[in-house]
Amino acid sequence: MSVDLTILVGTMTSTAELVAQAVQLATEEDDVRIDIQPMDGLDAGVFAGGGLYLICTSTYGQGDVPDNAKALYASLQSARPDLSGVEYGVIALGDRTYAETFCFGGKRFDELLTDLGARRLGEVFRHDASAGTMPEELAADWAIGWIESVKAGRALAA
Ligand SMILES: Cc1cc2nc3c(=O)[nH]c(=O)nc-3n(C[C@H](O)[C@H](O)[C@H](O)COP(=O)(O)O)c2cc1C
Repeated sequence: MSVDLTILVGTMTSTAELVAQAVQLATEEDDVRIDIQPMDGLDAGVFAGGGLYLICTSTYGQGDVPDNAKALYASLQSARPDLSGVEYGVIALGDRTYAETFCFGGKRFDELLTDLGARRLGEVFRHDASAGTMPEELAADWAIGWIESVKAGRALAA
């Protein structure tokens, strides 16, 4: 059962990009094809046609999405497309020092996509930059299990 996955990257200082690359290295094989797209310049049209997506984003400001994700987020809010053909996972990067808004960038995308009819697969993966752990290592481990459960779900549905 092959899997085509688009990873959309929201980042300010490239951590989320490193994480996306580590996820690709850890999970891409013959039957798993991955396309990494920075969110810069994207709008709601990136979800046209549906498919499987991984939102990989950090958090800035008062719990906001990073600058390169703002246009995509605003486009989804205003166009409100029907995303019932979209399945997605979330890798949310944050820092627990910001206790009130921990990983809110990912949380905002998660809530908006669900609101638009998309279906989240699995729990949101959250990384705490104050923990001293490597986000790319932990996220890659999480993504291996996530892809396995996507495949298992598809095998059951087939
Ligand atoms: C100015 C600033 C504001 C931040 N605000 C938040 C926040 O509100 N909530 C949170 O969980 N993390 C916050 N963070 C932490 C970042 O999301 C975290 O360090 C992340 O790993 C950065 O990833 P990036 O390099 O891909 O942008 C903030 C970091 C900075 C520098």
